[in-house]
Amino acid sequence: MSKNFKKNLLFSSPFFEFENVNLASKLHQHINTLNIDGIESNVANQVKHNLSESKFDFFNSEVDVIKETRTFLASCLKDILNNLYNTDDDYKIAFTDSWYHIGTKNSSHDLHAHINCSWCGIFYIQSGELDKGGHTFFCNPIFSNFLDIGTVHHNDTEHIVIPKNGKLVFFPSYLKHFQSIYEGNEQRVVVAFNCSILEKY
Ligand SMILES: [Fe+2]
Repeated sequence: MSKNFKKNLLFSSPFFEFENVNLASKLHQHINTLNIDGIESNVANQVKHNLSESKFDFFNSEVDVIKETRTFLASCLKDILNNLYNTDDDYKIAFTDSWYHIGTKNSSHDLHAHINCSWCGIFYIQSGELDKGGHTFFCNPIFSNFLDIGTVHHNDTEHIVIPKNGKLVFFPSYLKHFQSIYEGNEQRVVVAFNCSILEKY
């Protein structure tokens, strides 16, 4: 005999994907004019392998391509918030940290989450050799210490993003993620950033 019940699906995680190949190309040209040596941010060096990282102020520049990047990313996040909240508001968005990575052969980035922000993004500038790994793995924040048929509904352990030139993903800051080992010879270039929402208009 069927029973009446109420079904609630709790704690889903929003994850948004955009694409801007043209802007990625322009950012790549800009990054090529800069020089970095090792992990200049000096943040969590122990979880980063065979990659260089800029300081965390990459967007603090009035160079045209950076201004365009800030404007584009802020408009994406505005679209995300309006989609989630079913509104049509404007938002003042701060990029609290912003940086770029240049990964070389056998580069990887161990499991981590970003702090001091609500939303984070990864913009894949140059994906490098696509069949050489280096995918970004986002881990399921719902963790179960027991698995049987009753846990099948949440057994997805990760969401895998395959880098592609111009691909841009936004995710909530609590989502832990890592980059698997990238074995290509061509450089893998990624821009990443953290956002906080200062105001709603
Ligand atoms: Fe990250």
